[in-house]
Amino acid sequence: MTYHQFHRYRHTQALRDLFQETSLNVTDMILPIFVNESLSQKKEITSLPGVHQWALADITEEITTAVSLGIKAVLLFGIPSIKDDTGSQADNPNGIIQKAIAHIKATAPDIVVIADTCLCEYTSHGHCGIQKEGYLDNATTLLRLQSIAVSYANAGADIIAPSGMMDGMVYAIRQALNHHHYPQTSIMSYSVKYASSFYGPFRDATGSGDPFKGNRKHHQMNITQSREALLEADADITEGADILMVKPAGYYLDIIAKLRQQFNHPIAAYQVSGEYSMLKLAEKQGIVDGQMAMIESLTAIKRAGADLIITYYAKELASFLKTKK
Ligand code: PBG
Repeated sequence: MTYHQFHRYRHTQALRDLFQETSLNVTDMILPIFVNESLSQKKEITSLPGVHQWALADITEEITTAVSLGIKAVLLFGIPSIKDDTGSQADNPNGIIQKAIAHIKATAPDIVVIADTCLCEYTSHGHCGIQKEGYLDNATTLLRLQSIAVSYANAGADIIAPSGMMDGMVYAIRQALNHHHYPQTSIMSYSVKYASSFYGPFRDATGSGDPFKGNRKHHQMNITQSREALLEADADITEGADILMVKPAGYYLDIIAKLRQQFNHPIAAYQVSGEYSMLKLAEKQGIVDGQMAMIESLTAIKRAGADLIITYYAKELASFLKTKK
């Protein structure tokens, strides 16, 4: 008996390619896009290096780039110029997302448009729902989400992505979409979304609350939970979700793997703003090789079992995959 020579799988690039178990494809990536109603031209988000807030006027630039790189799907976040108690701009037929969807579909009719559906970017208090006597009123919030989802579907969104972790949100939205004759519009639910510290740069970008207060613990999942993730995912499937999502991704690979074992639905994972920014800052400081860190962080998410990855790296990865061919 001799020891096994694992190096036989590895000692040339061709052998490594031959035995490679997991690969990244541009078609698995979803590009997040921020559209800001108050801007007349794009503006870089300082806490998210290389990522911009886009003005309606130049959103076609980002879409044209995405299409030329082979990206198939975008996830839209709107930043309205007016925020109020009820997030009234979210379902305004002439709101920023409704207009952005029309612009995008006019530029690239085939790109899959996913609309993040939550109130936090639209409310003056930055909470994900309607507040009543200091509490989040789940039932009233569901009515708002129904109206917003129908409005996005009406504007041409292919997929509605409720991200507020309201109880019953998937069921409420499915009913509303069916009732308004949008049976073909899908739901990608932020099923397993943790009350994470890694959303800081996003909240900075959207002006949706103090990133460090962690004030979403009463509706987002406790970071200690694992079995509860399966309950959340199971409930979303029962309610009619087409795609399950785990968020954040990189620190929750165990959860992705668990969902992958238990369910056959497509699974998306969101590599969130903080995960991305930390790597970008480490790259700037010369602590890690930027390209390798990008590939390693995304490969880990794919290897854990995600089918789709929402990532601020989408364009950079797509460019990399193109040069590799
Ligand atoms: C809520 C929403 C958030 C993110 C996506 N959708 C913020 C939150 O839940 O506090 C975070 C994404 C990121 O950090 O990249 N609409």
